[in-house]
Formats: sequence, structure tokens, C-alpha cells
Amino acid sequence: MKRRHSSGDREFNPETLALGYAYDPTLSQGSVKPPVFLTSTFQFETAEEGKRFFELAYGLREAEEGEETGLIYSRLNNPNLQIFEERMAAWDRSEAAATFASGMAAISTSMLALLQPGDLVLSTAPVYGGSHYLFANILPKFGIETHFVSAGDGAVDRMREVAKKLGQERVRVLFTETPANPNNQHSDIAAIAAFADELRTAGSDAHFLVDNTLLGPVFQRPADLGADLVIYSATKFIGGHSDLIAGLATGTSALIKRILEMRTILGTMTTPFNGWLLLRSLETVSVRMRRQAKNASRLAKLLAEHPLVESVAYPGLLKEGSAQRQLFERQCSGPGSLISFTVKGGQEVAYRVLERFEVFRLAVSLGGTESLVEHPMTMTHADVPKADLEARGVSPGLIRMSVGLEHLSDLLRDLKHALAT
Ligand SMILES: Cc1ncc(COP(=O)(O)O)c(C=O)c1O
Repeated sequence: MKRRHSSGDREFNPETLALGYAYDPTLSQGSVKPPVFLTSTFQFETAEEGKRFFELAYGLREAEEGEETGLIYSRLNNPNLQIFEERMAAWDRSEAAATFASGMAAISTSMLALLQPGDLVLSTAPVYGGSHYLFANILPKFGIETHFVSAGDGAVDRMREVAKKLGQERVRVLFTETPANPNNQHSDIAAIAAFADELRTAGSDAHFLVDNTLLGPVFQRPADLGADLVIYSATKFIGGHSDLIAGLATGTSALIKRILEMRTILGTMTTPFNGWLLLRSLETVSVRMRRQAKNASRLAKLLAEHPLVESVAYPGLLKEGSAQRQLFERQCSGPGSLISFTVKGGQEVAYRVLERFEVFRLAVSLGGTESLVEHPMTMTHADVPKADLEARGVSPGLIRMSVGLEHLSDLLRDLKHALAT
């Protein structure tokens, strides 16, 4: 299946491409579904062919017209990963993609590919606890400094201020997770992309990275708004069944080439079987995310009206006319299914609520078919300083909820029961 129908120029929608694009059944005995290519290495037809494949893979020469990198070794390339990458690039309307062993592998490999000692990273906060740890504790060992600014309205102005103070020419990466995990604050992708453009115009080799895990690929397309690299924990909605760990980056061919060079040497790609599982999952990601969002919208409403609940952060509940609502409407096409809510009574009450659920599972992660609840301050974000979390609305009473595909009436009953503590 090609990216476009033979009868016209318009591209197929990603839901359609997810079922057949970038796979040629005639190369696999006519199998309608791609097999799992469980092999570490690939046989060359001739020694000359092996030499040519390596020349391209290692960038020793430019590809000739129509020439593609052949299959070599599964740390460099593998059909299951490549099919998935082409389908994800189509989903994000990007040129290329790279699959990783985890979301953290995608983030760390991309950062190492783009940064060098002396560089400055400006990131919104909060970000996922692992990303925070990488920026705050690991990158400094390589002479790379990160400054955090609060996510939400005005994030780009805060980035500008820090850049002005610390030296615009040192800023190499702008990073945002939007909406932010776990406080669901939206940061303005188009505005930060414009700032990245300004930095480039001033001579810096700056790139803008967006962690699109919470709403992508279905409800938010950062590349359309100017992001250079879109990153995912594919463990979440893309994998969607809580049965694998994987990551992904999509972007221009030139940028992905830089990142693939680092992936090849660090060995941070994922396995062929995980690639196959991701392909299976991609076929239903749109249906799953839309249904999960529908369940979540109803649960968020219940939370907002409940006397034990102090506040609810969910894109679907943003106040009409507020700046966050306007931003959400500009850059997202749906609210997703991650809800954060704060209960009255702090951590003690939050823990009691967490332990009363019978359908929701008390576990970290999100985006799977089953509903999950967790306590960010002492679990997913435990290694972020508490004062930083509290300053960004992540208080001891905050519970994060990922809504799955169970029957809505069972979820509503379970939530009411848990809150009746
Ligand atoms: C927004 C976000 N980005 C990145 C990650 C890291 O992904 P992984 O656990 O697949 O390494 C997570 C994990 O929870 C996440 O929530």
C-alpha cells in the first residue's frame, strides 16, 4: 500500500495507513500481516552489496537516486521497526522516525545526539520524573545545564528571559511536555517553535523537542505547529495494552539521521517482537484513544462535582474563555484520558482513596486499555524535589488517573465508591 491512492494526490488518513502502508506482502509469502522478523542479522546477496549497505548506513557516501539502506543487523535496522517508523512518520506528518527501547531511551538518545558540553537546555516543568532526572542529574555530568520554567501560559516568555540571562547562543534544546505530566498544563507549541526559529536566525543550532506522549498521535500534532522533533513514550497510548516498553521520535530525515547514528552506537533500539506488537497496536490507537477520552470526560465531570475533590485538571474541563482553553482549542483536537485531581485532606486521604478502587488498578503508567491510578508525588515524580512539585500544583493530595476501556458504568461506580472514604 502506497501513501496516496492511485486516483489522486490526497494522502490516506493515518488510520488507513496503519493497516497496510510500508509493507509489501509479496516479500513475505503473501502474508497480509507483517511477520515478526526475529533475526539479529541479514544475509547479503554479494559482498559488494554488503559494502554498499554499510556505506549508506554509516554515511560514508550519499545515496544514489532511489537507493535505500538495505537490511544489515537488527541494531541498525529491522523490518518490524522500519514499517512502524514509516507509519508513525505518516501519522505525525513527518519525514522519518526512529523506534527506541523506551520513552527514556528516545529522550536520552535524542539529547545526546543534539548536545555537547557547555550547551544549555530550556525545559518546561513539570516533566515526567525520569526526564527530570535525566536533565537535572545526568546531563550535568556531561557539562550540559538545564533550566526549568513553569509549563502553561507564558512558558515561552519565561524561556526567553532565562536565555537572555544565560546566553542565547548557548541554548541548543528547547523541550516541552504538553500537556504536562501530571498537572495537565498546556504550553504553546507554535510560540516555542517561533522562539527556536529566532535562535536559529541568531546563529544557534537550536532544536525544539516536544514530548507528545499524553495526547499524541491522535489528538495533537506538534510537527504541524513547528516542533522539530516529536517524542513519545510508546509504552503508553501507542503500545496501548500495558504489555511493552518502547519509545519513538519523529522529525525531518536530517534530524532523524543524526539521532539514528547515536541509536546505532548506544544500541537503544527496541526488539523486532516489540516492533511487531507496536504495529498491531497502531491499528487501533485512534479507536482506543477516542473511546478512552469519552470515558474520561464523564469521569472528570463526576470528579468536578464531588465534595471530596478540591480541583480537577483535565483539558476537557478548562474554563471557557481562559487562555489555557484557547490554547487547548488551537493545538489539540481532543482532551485525552489523563485526569489529575486533588482531594481534600492531603496524602493521607489520597492514599485511602487509592486503596479503595476495585476496577482502577493502583499502578504507574498510563494510556493502556485498563484504568490506572497513582500518586505522582511519591511514585512517578518521587525524584523531583517536593518544593518544585508543589510550586507547580502537584501537591500531596494529587491523584493521577489514566482512564481505560472498561464499561463506563463500572468506572463511575468504582470512582464514587473510592471517593466515599
Ligand atoms: C510524558 C512521558 N514521557 C516519557 C516517559 C518515559 O517513558 P518510558 O517509561 O517508556 O521510558 C513517560 C513515562 O511515564 C511519560 O509519562
